[in-house]
Amino acid sequence: SPRESEWLLDRAAAARRVVVLSGAGMSAESGVPTFRQAQTGLWERFDPTMLATPDAWEADRPLVWAWYAWRLGLVRGVHPNAGHTALAAWGRKARVDIVTQNVDDLHERAGSQVLAHLHGSLRAFRCEACAAPYDGPIEVPAEPVERLDPPRCPDCRAAIRPGVVWFGEMLPSGAFDGAVDALLEADLVLVVGTSGLVHPAAGLPDIARGHGVPVVEVNPQETPLSAGVDLSWRITAAVGLPTLVDRLIEP
Ligand code: APR
Repeated sequence: SPRESEWLLDRAAAARRVVVLSGAGMSAESGVPTFRQAQTGLWERFDPTMLATPDAWEADRPLVWAWYAWRLGLVRGVHPNAGHTALAAWGRKARVDIVTQNVDDLHERAGSQVLAHLHGSLRAFRCEACAAPYDGPIEVPAEPVERLDPPRCPDCRAAIRPGVVWFGEMLPSGAFDGAVDALLEADLVLVVGTSGLVHPAAGLPDIARGHGVPVVEVNPQETPLSAGVDLSWRITAAVGLPTLVDRLIEP
């Protein structure tokens, strides 16, 4: 409504520190399927929440590796969308900290500073045994394949694993606390493109609100978070964020 949009515009224009909590919906308009959208092709019959687990990795490393190689290929083939670009532009006018559940690097490629990748990153490969970071070549086959042997660690010969957080694993140390510290200092929090289903990330908006920080949700769908935010904006990231930021950075 006009009143709500004036409220949001005033808050956004006055904000010196903004925290953006982004989820898979942030990258949807770049062509990256959201985590819970049906997988395409041969991955259609796999449940992603079953593949992104330590058990799946232990049981069949080549299957899980092939899935991440496919996802890495997807991310390499797309570009930041207007939502990512708008947040990066806003970041040149105010401090805009990105706390993302996404493992893609689209915020970085758009020019934003990412304060925390709560669920790790597709670019942070490491040895499953000695945890040495791996920056060797990652083969992404032209056509999706169902199994692919992961590279071996040059130091200890164990398998290289994706640097993402699997269900049941701990978040990267400091990531959650860093996100909370930023939230408590923020003048405005935007929650963009997350279903609010996975904790502890889903608890962050309530922490901000409990501390009196205004929270705005940007999502074309209603989510479990919608009832608990100050303003729930039914709009997509690549449409809503540029609309807002263009009003802030009028030439
Ligand atoms: N713009 C904004 N939001 C969108 C868009 C869009 N164009 N398209 C979809 N959405 C919303 C959906 O309505 C949904 O609420 O993005 C959300 C995507 O939800 P999920 O697929 O559950 O993604 P996410 O919330 O990031 O998942 C959280 O769970 O699956 C694990 O580790 C994985 O980081 C992921 C975490």
